Amino acid sequence: MGREFVDIFDGWADSYDASVSGKDPEYRDVFEGYETILNEVAKRVSGTIIEFGTGTGNLTAKLVEAGNSVIGIEPNTKMLKVTAERFPSIKVIDGDLLEFKIGHENIDAIVSTYVFHHLTDDEKGIALKKYASLLPTNGKVVFADTVFLTEEAKQVQISKERKRGYLNVVEDLEREYYTTIPVLKELFTKAGFQVRFVKMNDYVWLMDATKK
Ligand SMILES: C[S@@+](CC[C@H](N)C(=O)[O-])C[C@H]1O[C@@H](n2cnc3c(N)ncnc32)[C@H](O)[C@@H]1O
Repeated sequence: MGREFVDIFDGWADSYDASVSGKDPEYRDVFEGYETILNEVAKRVSGTIIEFGTGTGNLTAKLVEAGNSVIGIEPNTKMLKVTAERFPSIKVIDGDLLEFKIGHENIDAIVSTYVFHHLTDDEKGIALKKYASLLPTNGKVVFADTVFLTEEAKQVQISKERKRGYLNVVEDLEREYYTTIPVLKELFTKAGFQVRFVKMNDYVWLMDATKK
């Protein structure tokens, strides 16, 4: 993963919460139902939980409020500082979806929202195998992220956003590794998970995976 992908978030740390609340028209559809999406992820897990890409700590808040023990993993220094200052009692570690060092905790679940697209599909497969090795039988991976039904549907969406003049969204969709449901289904299955997908808005799907 290139460091430049992570540095992009330096400029977003201060305005991120305004974006997710719908104040940025370009990202309104992506973040539609943001609170519901976070609640849906949080309610499906319990225990000791790894959260990747904590950002400003909005999902972290829901996990902590529900009484879970959270280990946050965040590669962007500014975002990491925001989460660490908001939750002084939890561990927030510098790391990413693929490269991270945790202690000897028994992990019950692994979660993230709006993060998994930072990995290429090959990297996603490697990461899921790593997560399977950390989890017990029935352990969970619950991710929510932008996913498309097909590659064609993704191209249709990019054209629609270009016509609307939402060029930041277009650039994001073309730069990052947004994938499709069939690809994800195969990657989760190969890594030993049973996975279900739930549509949350025009962009975001929830992936609810249980280790077999
Ligand atoms: C769009 S924000 C999402 C923040 C938060 N999860 C939320 O739902 O509001 C993406 C976050 O993922 C982090 N990130 C970027 N690349 C990452 C990677 N490879 N592994 C883990 N986190 C990453 C960014 O620094 C940023 O904090």
